[in-house]
Amino acid sequence: MADVHVSNHPLIQHKLTLLRNKSTEPKKFRELVREIAIMLAYEATQDLAVSPKAVETPMGPAAGAELQEHIGLVPILRAGLGMVEGIWEMMPSAEVWHIGLYRDERTLRPVEYYNKLPVAPTVQVCLILDPMLATGGSAVATVDILKRWGAQRVKFVGLIAAPEGIERLSSAHPDVAIHIAEVDERLNSIGYIVPGLGDAGDRQFGTG
Ligand code: PRP
Ligand code: URA
Repeated sequence: MADVHVSNHPLIQHKLTLLRNKSTEPKKFRELVREIAIMLAYEATQDLAVSPKAVETPMGPAAGAELQEHIGLVPILRAGLGMVEGIWEMMPSAEVWHIGLYRDERTLRPVEYYNKLPVAPTVQVCLILDPMLATGGSAVATVDILKRWGAQRVKFVGLIAAPEGIERLSSAHPDVAIHIAEVDERLNSIGYIVPGLGDAGDRQFGTG
């Protein structure tokens, strides 16, 4: 059973519309990616484990909570980079592990070019960050890498998905929750999401 969460939060939907607009400049685009990522990560981390922790307020003792799980943010280079900073500010003790993959434009298959994961896992929950889930090849390859590493809990946080990407990721890794702002209509003949937003990496880095 696919574990897919499509956010219907009005702020996310509003910002996603601005993001899609072809007139949105890279600076504004980066700002929007950052803001939407924070809200999606907030939704994706609702089930993190906490333990009770007492705290002294100026008025006396209060019951509190402390996060139990150590989080790894795993941006897929390049486009996932823009999702890191805002989320990291919200959870500054998270570790950031970059995975370098690019999609071969001819085969649409992911090609790995950067991975510096240490020998043993250092986090309990991994949030894969990538704005686009198109064919799903890059996401599946990243989950494969993280599971080989020994990651126990993995979630995918993205902005826009194609139905094909959701199907591929959830078939390959049904235990990976997918948190997304919108599921679009389809992929076109060159593997781009329609209507999507174009090339998420190029639009952030001004390289289109
Ligand atoms: C984009 C995007 C995903 C991938 C999605 O990256 O950021 O990583 O394509 O496509 P898939 O689901 O079909 O694998 P791209 O390969 O363009 O690299 P970039 O981020 O460096 O621009
Ligand atoms: N990568 C992108 O950046 N956009 C798409 O629509 C598909 C893959």
